[in-house]
Amino acid sequence: MATVQVPVGLDHDKMMNFAHHVVGDLAAAITGPLLYIGDRLGLFRVLADSGPLTVQELADKTGLNERYLREWSSAMVAAAYLDYDPKPQTVALSAEHAAVLANENSPVFVGGMSQMIPDHYRLLPQIMDAFRHGGGVAYEQYSPDVFEGTERLFGPGYRNFLAQQWIPAMPGVAERLAAGGLAGDAGCGRGQALMALAKAFPAAQLVGWDNHAPNIAYANEQARQAGVSDRLRFEVRGANDLPQHHRFDLIMTCDCLHDMVSPETCARSIRGALREDGAWFCIEPNMADRLEDNISPIGKMFYAVSTLQCMTCSLAHGGSGYGTGMGAGNVERVAHLAGFSRFRKLPIQHPLNQFFEIRP
Ligand SMILES: C[S@@+](CC[C@H](N)C(=O)[O-])C[C@H]1O[C@@H](n2cnc3c(N)ncnc32)[C@H](O)[C@@H]1O
Repeated sequence: MATVQVPVGLDHDKMMNFAHHVVGDLAAAITGPLLYIGDRLGLFRVLADSGPLTVQELADKTGLNERYLREWSSAMVAAAYLDYDPKPQTVALSAEHAAVLANENSPVFVGGMSQMIPDHYRLLPQIMDAFRHGGGVAYEQYSPDVFEGTERLFGPGYRNFLAQQWIPAMPGVAERLAAGGLAGDAGCGRGQALMALAKAFPAAQLVGWDNHAPNIAYANEQARQAGVSDRLRFEVRGANDLPQHHRFDLIMTCDCLHDMVSPETCARSIRGALREDGAWFCIEPNMADRLEDNISPIGKMFYAVSTLQCMTCSLAHGGSGYGTGMGAGNVERVAHLAGFSRFRKLPIQHPLNQFFEIRP
């Protein structure tokens, strides 16, 4: 490492190590838009399907500009996302990298996250305004990329694990659904969790609620196209305003409780909708209760998303603004305040999420 002049008293190595660390982060940040381009223009999918290609072959296959593709693929090679063979001058996306960047059904697919991030940059003036004056940026101000990206981020988890592993982790719940039980999803987004349950439990009656109307229109159309709209419907409805008839066997909140204006009111609403022997299945970001235990790449990502979206959406309406770091301790406290008596963190291993079974 080159020695540079530093003011007396500074630890040279510490300073240089940190400079390298930040440059690495900045390189990742400026690579983000290129991931968006690779995802949205279908470049990762073409490379996954075709094997090694010269840039000209990639241009021919996609109809995109060769010069732009050359620069984009150079950046992707430099970032070690694409492999490069200098002799034939081909670039390639390995099967392992395709599972992360191109295969929408793979459990490790993260293309949805890369779709979401540029909109957070677009909203920086409004977010900085909230730093200065309080308040926040409401969900309606985010572009469709955020909602579609969220669907693509979480969808693979629901399709691969929800009915197969997560629901069966709660005793008796899968049996209820198989026997025609009633399940709801509050803050359901574009409906992928319930779409997965509709496939696995053909006798169950399912209803999703979200207060973002375009999500609900899309989810109902998905259900119609899948031929399940007789038993799966979506309604524009706030999570604080669920039907208070104690008839639901299962209510889910999937990565949304911490976003809400009032998780406390939502929890009370869920309590009033659930049967006495029903279950609230709550998925939250995999964050520890204390900041000092979140000093990790996951903590770094979640606190950033929280500042730019989750917390600010709640604060936009004067909400609690827990953000992604809501943590098990706060979820348990909110559940007890709402009259739930049993709270259990489920023994499900997942890098991004933690899972709770909450019962009256
Ligand atoms: C991070 S997204 C998660 C969406 C979905 N659960 C999923 O797993 O894809 C949060 C969702 O919560 C919805 N939401 C936030 N506050 C809500 C509330 N009070 N009532 C209903 N929906 C709400 C938002 O519109 C958004 O679709």
